[in-house]
Amino acid sequence: MLTDMDDSFQATIDADGRIEPRDAMPDGYRKTLIRQIAQHAHSEIIGMQPEGNWISRAPSLRRKAILMAKVQDEAGHGLYLYAAAETLGVDRADLLDLLHSGRQKYSSIFNYPTLTWADIGAIGWLVDGAAIVNQVPLCRCSYGPYARAMVRVCKEESFHQRQGFEILHTLCNGTEGQKAMAQDALDRWWWPSLMMFGPPDSASTHSEQSMAWGIKRHSNDELRQRFVDMTVPQADVLGLKVPDEGLRYDEESGRYRFTEPDYTELYDVVKGNGPCNQERLAHRVKAHEDGAWVREAAAAYASKQAARKQG
Ligand code: ACO
Repeated sequence: MLTDMDDSFQATIDADGRIEPRDAMPDGYRKTLIRQIAQHAHSEIIGMQPEGNWISRAPSLRRKAILMAKVQDEAGHGLYLYAAAETLGVDRADLLDLLHSGRQKYSSIFNYPTLTWADIGAIGWLVDGAAIVNQVPLCRCSYGPYARAMVRVCKEESFHQRQGFEILHTLCNGTEGQKAMAQDALDRWWWPSLMMFGPPDSASTHSEQSMAWGIKRHSNDELRQRFVDMTVPQADVLGLKVPDEGLRYDEESGRYRFTEPDYTELYDVVKGNGPCNQERLAHRVKAHEDGAWVREAAAAYASKQAARKQG
């Protein structure tokens, strides 16, 4: 039997309206959003590490300033997303505990190492490029606070993607060694970038329900295809070769046919066995512990201010 709550929720979803924090919503909808938004927030802050690794080694002051701004943006994205999750009745501190104890996930992509400066270009171009393809549709997510957070995130991701492309463009127009470094970065980041979109539709546990609720607007495979269609012509502009022997343009559909990534690697990395999982989590836990005094000082200041207002 449908309750009034189910009726009004469903009517909003059917009309492609937005669900707001005080609206009634099914438990499953709330749980799915908390899971996805928390994972997304965790990805943003863990994602600061692979690039942060190159701030002190950026090849020029200009590159360093840009990279610092970019890494700072990722912290900002994490903050919007934790704030969006909190509108669903969870506490940011609890979400961080779940991340630190390995009970909540973050994106597989951030468990790969950044070995050369070209990796910073590849992350901007491919990883932020994939993030844009995945997140632009989330601006139309049925949950209002998540959708609105995504608007600004996507604008910033688009700057990130261009700065990555520009790094690689410079390397590809440099010496032979620099071009080879760019090709090596593409070779290593291509497959993990395809895996960012998640398991194939046939193995995706949440897609069907999330799409019915208007949380996800497209399936994992559809977004992966869009990413390939967008990225291959850009690789051509750079003069780089996508490391997929099966890649070809299909005139009839106007889309690229490509080889699926090895999903056993995705599952393995998600389970904690990627090249940098342990290092990433340990670094995050340490940063959190080292920052305890900042949280304590901020809380003490806030309560002093509140007491002053009352007094
Ligand atoms: N890395 C880690 N875990 C993943 C990945 C991945 N690349 N892809 C899927 N998973 C997990 C899912 O979280 C889910 O696990 P859970 O049931 O324990 O929560 C499981 O694998 C099955 O996958 P799906 O059923 O397809 O999961 P879902 O419907 O949530 O789709 C997706 C996954 C596409 C990542 C979705 O959650 C999403 O769009 N999230 C928002 C975007 C995001 O988080 N981006 C992070 C990287 S971008 C950046 O930070 C720059």
